[in-house]
Amino acid sequence: MLNVIIFGPPGSGKGTQSEKIVEKYGLIHLSTGEILRNEIKEKTTIGCKVKEYIDDGMLVPDEIVLKTLYFKAIEYADSAGFVFDGFPRTIVQAETLDKMLEKRDIPVDVVISIEVAEDELFKRMMGRAEDSGRSDDNEEIIKKRIEVYKSQTLPLLDYYNKQEKLISINGMEPVNRVFENISRAIDFYQNKKEILP
Ligand code: AP5
Repeated sequence: MLNVIIFGPPGSGKGTQSEKIVEKYGLIHLSTGEILRNEIKEKTTIGCKVKEYIDDGMLVPDEIVLKTLYFKAIEYADSAGFVFDGFPRTIVQAETLDKMLEKRDIPVDVVISIEVAEDELFKRMMGRAEDSGRSDDNEEIIKKRIEVYKSQTLPLLDYYNKQEKLISINGMEPVNRVFENISRAIDFYQNKKEILP
């Protein structure tokens, strides 16, 4: 089992890189943003509850995210592992994920932090806005999402650094180059797991 967290600010390339990891390592992609957007599209009870938060660029409350993710994860309990994309985003989410995985003795193996300069994030998301159809891809909300990331999610880097699972990757390079570096990091942590008792 291999559990990878892809961490980074909005527009850093988490979704792009997650798809490549899933293809190479045969893992299940769990993107909380994607899952929540589907709930909105399907007009479910959860979708109605989260729409306002997403449209406003705010984080969806922990209890809703955790419950939604849990039900998705148990659908794939027998998989080779997960790529968590955009999750966890708060300390409560990270601690709950650790407890959930510890129970099954399948901890998080590596946390990949994709580093991208703020003006580039903005440029990428504004570029994508033209055809993404995402209600949160507009100038005002993009700025807010970046602020929310800095104030509520960035502190998680310290949480995973203390666990010695964090690796930073330069996300300013071309997609394939970023992926080569991510693959190297995953292989390193995978080998370490096989060597250590
Ligand atoms: P979410 O869907 O997770 O969005 P996000 O974090 O804002 O990230 P994005 O999807 O915008 O960007 P990305 O990093 O995936 O980059 P991408 O690969 O698309 O969350 C949306 C909302 O849902 C949140 O605001 C919140 O409300 C809610 N939510 C989700 N999870 C939650 C949680 N755990 N707790 C609470 N609330 C939650 O790339 C971006 C663009 O850049 C693309 O056009 C791509 O082609 C391009 N690109 C990618 N890599 C490169 C590269 N190397 N060079 C040039 N261009 C590149």
